[in-house]
Amino acid sequence: MEISTRRISKNDAESITDLTRQLGYALPFEQVVENINIVLQNKDHDAFVAVYNNRVIGWVGVKHAFQIESAPFCEIHGLVVDDEYRNHGIGKLLIEKAKQWGKEKGNNKLRLRCNVTRTETHLFYQHLGFKETKQQKVFETEI
Ligand SMILES: CC(C)(COP(=O)(O)OP(=O)(O)OC[C@H]1O[C@@H](n2cnc3c(N)ncnc32)[C@H](O)[C@@H]1OP(=O)(O)O)[C@@H](O)C(=O)NCCC(=O)NCCS
Repeated sequence: MEISTRRISKNDAESITDLTRQLGYALPFEQVVENINIVLQNKDHDAFVAVYNNRVIGWVGVKHAFQIESAPFCEIHGLVVDDEYRNHGIGKLLIEKAKQWGKEKGNNKLRLRCNVTRTETHLFYQHLGFKETKQQKVFETEI
């Protein structure tokens, strides 16, 4: 299976909309186009796709994070592989891409947050050498 990776493009928006729905977020196509454009215009964000037979079958988002209380680090923001193509090494390939991007940005740490309900995915990350460092709750309010 010949899989390649490349930077995301706004022409990928249709596939990304479908994959993002598989990730659990039913965003309208137009919002996905806008989000891809924002990522491409921001030097501290990027995203990469996995391609098989000219078809986009996975994506990963990455961010260079700056916080007062931490040394700069790199963070994965979104990762999904098409459910027809899982367990073929594509998730691992996208993680490698994220690591490479983070290193090129001068980071030596890659973090990610994963919903506590995604227990299978936790095993995937642990298999790839990620260590759980803490658990969090997410709060939001109207503004
Ligand atoms: C998580 C996900 C991205 C993994 O992608 P994938 O392409 O199926 O995984 P890979 O085939 O690259 O697996 C890489 C390695 O992890 C192992 N692995 C994968 N899933 C595993 C699991 N549930 N438990 C243990 N090991 C696992 C594989 O066996 C493989 O091992 P190897 O490199 O030693 O052969 C994919 O399952 C997915 O999209 N899940 C739904 C969305 C999701 O949870 N996204 C993450 C949100 S934080």
